[in-house]
Amino acid sequence: MLENVKMTVSDKEQEIQKQYADKVREYVTNSGCEKTFYSLAMGCQMNAHDSEKITGMMLRMGYKETNDETKADFIIYNTCCVRENAEEKVFGKIGTLKHIKKTKPDTIIALCGCMMQEDTVIQKLKQSYRHVDIIFGTFNLHKLPQLLYTRIKTGKPVIDIWDKHGPIVEDTSYKREFKYKASVNVMYGCNNFCTYCIVPYVRGRERSREKEDILNEIRMLANDGVKEITLLGQNVNSYGKTLETPVTFAELLREVDKIDGIERIRFMTSHPKDLSDDLIYAMRDCKKVCNYLHLPFQSGSNRILEKMNRRYTKEKYLSLIYKIKKEIPDIMISTDIIVGFPQETEEDFLDTLDVVKKVGFSTAFTFIYSKRTGTPAAVMDGQIDEATAHERFNRLLEVLNKTIEKVHEAQVGKTLDVLVEKVSRQGEGIVTGRSTDNTLVHFKGNAELIGQTVPVKITENKVFYLLGERI
Ligand code: 5AD
Ligand code: SF4
Repeated sequence: MLENVKMTVSDKEQEIQKQYADKVREYVTNSGCEKTFYSLAMGCQMNAHDSEKITGMMLRMGYKETNDETKADFIIYNTCCVRENAEEKVFGKIGTLKHIKKTKPDTIIALCGCMMQEDTVIQKLKQSYRHVDIIFGTFNLHKLPQLLYTRIKTGKPVIDIWDKHGPIVEDTSYKREFKYKASVNVMYGCNNFCTYCIVPYVRGRERSREKEDILNEIRMLANDGVKEITLLGQNVNSYGKTLETPVTFAELLREVDKIDGIERIRFMTSHPKDLSDDLIYAMRDCKKVCNYLHLPFQSGSNRILEKMNRRYTKEKYLSLIYKIKKEIPDIMISTDIIVGFPQETEEDFLDTLDVVKKVGFSTAFTFIYSKRTGTPAAVMDGQIDEATAHERFNRLLEVLNKTIEKVHEAQVGKTLDVLVEKVSRQGEGIVTGRSTDNTLVHFKGNAELIGQTVPVKITENKVFYLLGERI
């Protein structure tokens, strides 16, 4: 019963937005000239996927995509607020848009994404960035057609921020960045409240999509030629817990594994506290699930982990890693690490280095702690000075780079199946792809190989990528 109500709300909202999209399309057609849009995604994969949805909506409304921001009729930035420097970058970029607006006053400028969920940001935009036309947040992305239509009709700024999520609006008509790989949301939001993280405040509480909606979307993608799927969520390991008929993430993986046409399944992000044995077995048993796991540990110090509210210890994290490696011996593991969290001592930091040395990560995303107003860590005593944080960060990179080099060295001589993604930036004649363990591999080849999985013998280790020869 509840499900029916939810579906009805979602369908109704989708219908309303379709009507607005038609009206904008009519406006574009009647304008007699081509209208273009420029879209920029900042931040994580979740934002990148939301921007694919934005692109889908813009194309439906009759706009054509352009890479030239200065000529676009509509400019949209999908913002990230996870660290302060990301926010500064956004304000810098919005500032430069003032010139575009001066020379082309009809340009419509829109901002959306995580940063827009912060009151302080909205106040600042209202006061000092009046050239922005449309502002919306993370909970009402689907309303873009209505907001754009309102802006066109009234000529006035439109600000629409929701402070919490509504029903999940199912819409799968996004425009993929890649032909052969796609991201699929399995859940939205986060309930963990790690004390440094702003995500739960700007993306709301955890909610999962219905299993059948996810599977149908993946079947549709498979029919469209997609071979690799990345299941996305802030904390995928707790997928399905809030559904009326609960489903585990392991069960979902086993179902996705059965879909014809899909060759590879990836997922992110996992939280160590929720990673079940059942999931490890599903990863081991499902042929299509890649030999790769992104498992952030953030800090190796139990004292700091507790202050971060991570709800696991260094020992628990390491035993989890050993368990995973025992079941899936050739797995590659990547992670997220923060240095300079409040009160972090040299000893705490050495514990972080110890985890790096013990696990042998193939990649790591490393961050200097950034104070986010509104989070508990922002008001903790013992904030670390910049010089100390930088010094630790550089030492961390040194240890990590050696580890990564060693892990990749072991790949030399092996033959890896590489799904070719694109022609390499290094130039014509070289293509780039990934092995199932997510290692980046460059080898000689042409654009015709894009979308194919080919065996490549690894010849050289370049630390962050490998060179190879197709066999
Ligand atoms: N400062 C630094 N890094 C952060 N992250 C999240 N919040 C912060 C912050 N305030 C990092 C975490 C997380 C990744 C997505 O971003 O490592 O896993
Ligand atoms: Fe942030 Fe922690 Fe949730 Fe990840 S799990 S989004 S770090 S609160």
